Amino acid sequence: RFKAVIFDLDGVITDTAHYHYLAWKRLAEAEGVHFDEAFNEQLKGIDRMGSLDLILAGAKRTYSDAGKLALADAKNRHYQELIATMSAADLLPGAVDALAAVRVAGLRIGLASVSKNAFTVLERLGIRDRFDYVVDAALIANSKPHPEIFLTAARELGVDPADCLGVEDAVAGVASIKSAGMWALGIGNPDVLTRADRVIPALDRFKLEDYQ
Ligand code: BG6
Ligand code: MG
Repeated sequence: RFKAVIFDLDGVITDTAHYHYLAWKRLAEAEGVHFDEAFNEQLKGIDRMGSLDLILAGAKRTYSDAGKLALADAKNRHYQELIATMSAADLLPGAVDALAAVRVAGLRIGLASVSKNAFTVLERLGIRDRFDYVVDAALIANSKPHPEIFLTAARELGVDPADCLGVEDAVAGVASIKSAGMWALGIGNPDVLTRADRVIPALDRFKLEDYQ
């Protein structure tokens, strides 16, 4: 019954969520902030400056705007080093098959990532042309969990949000999908992604006909 599927990128199609984790962890620890997987869960799907603010909230000192920008830039340089050697081999199992299944079913395909590196990652993976529309994060004012990014994708695809299925690995991402009035497929742990309509461990279990 869906007319479009809108995918998140980091942690759904490729394991860049782990690279974001490594880059944030190095920054946090340099600033004396404890950083672990549980805290990282709150950062998934949150844009760069929003993530930095959440991390620095645990620091002992305060930071000027210029100081924050310098930290964000350093994190991004580290992240870009980590993704520099990515290729199609870094596609998660099932990702290409899921995109192909959606295409064969005749649905529109969108990508909704708040990452300003999303186009670079898509190019490296060699899958840019599999999407009918990729949201440009630079044009989005509100990070997930705000619905803006999924609503923008639906609008540009020309599909009613109620006819869209969103795919997300982040708590903030699932919240964004639900606030946009879409059906949410979570990728990961159902105990974490409690607001998703259905959760599967990874895209290699994606079955479009199961979701309604
Ligand atoms: C999201 C990730 O996709 O993009 C976050 O889940 C990341 O972890 C955010 O912080 C912003 O990414 P970037 O590449 O613009 O710093
Ligand atoms: Mg993600």
